[in-house]
Amino acid sequence: MAKLIYSAIASLDGYVEDKQGRFDWAAPDEEVHAFVNDLERPIGTHLYGRRMYETMVSWETVSTGRDQPAVTRDFAQIWQAADKVVYSRTLRAPSSARTRIERDFDPAGISGLKDSSARDVSVGGAELAGEAIAAGLVDECHLFLHPIVVGGGKRALPDGVRARLELLAERRFRSGVVHLHYGLVRG
Ligand SMILES: NC(=O)c1ccc[n+]([C@@H]2O[C@H](COP(=O)([O-])OP(=O)(O)OC[C@H]3O[C@@H](n4cnc5c(N)ncnc54)[C@H](OP(=O)(O)O)[C@@H]3O)[C@@H](O)[C@H]2O)c1
Repeated sequence: MAKLIYSAIASLDGYVEDKQGRFDWAAPDEEVHAFVNDLERPIGTHLYGRRMYETMVSWETVSTGRDQPAVTRDFAQIWQAADKVVYSRTLRAPSSARTRIERDFDPAGISGLKDSSARDVSVGGAELAGEAIAAGLVDECHLFLHPIVVGGGKRALPDGVRARLELLAERRFRSGVVHLHYGLVRG
């Protein structure tokens, strides 16, 4: 059975975007980017909220010429090769290949996808992932905490949900980013 994995790059106080909707402070440097690429490489299907999809879809058309950094070319290939499901009640059509739209978040459907997938499934951004965590569907979580406090905005983890976590791994990067890999404890 495939795992459902939530990954987020957040401020130390737990926000994926600040009150102005900015997340430029969350841009990964080359070292973090290469690590993220290795996490994303085995993913077969990405479940995206519409807002995260609108950010990520630029990877469909990003330049992959030799003038681009190796981590950029690598991630573009990884992203383009994966299937995507976009959750949205407003988006009329996807603008990337291997992509379909779902109008409703159906926990039973996602459970079925986990059962039938040979490769792991990811979920993001924060709003959609919060619904998946609340529904008990998320198996693992990767948080990349940046050394910045932004004071408010969009929380990486949902309000109103209690969950116990087991630390599976951690790593520190030269930039001061810390990676925390947790498993969600069932029962
Ligand atoms: N920290 C970082 O490194 C980083 C990286 C990339 C992006 N971001 C930003 O972080 C922000 C995350 O925002 P977010 O958490 O609001 O985004 P999100 O979860 O990606 O998208 C929210 C949207 O998903 C759709 N949706 C959610 N639940 C649904 C459901 N049950 N049924 C159908 N559609 C559903 C809705 O789209 P509709 O309104 O179309 O119905 C909703 O407005 C974005 O601005 C993203 O660009 C941060």
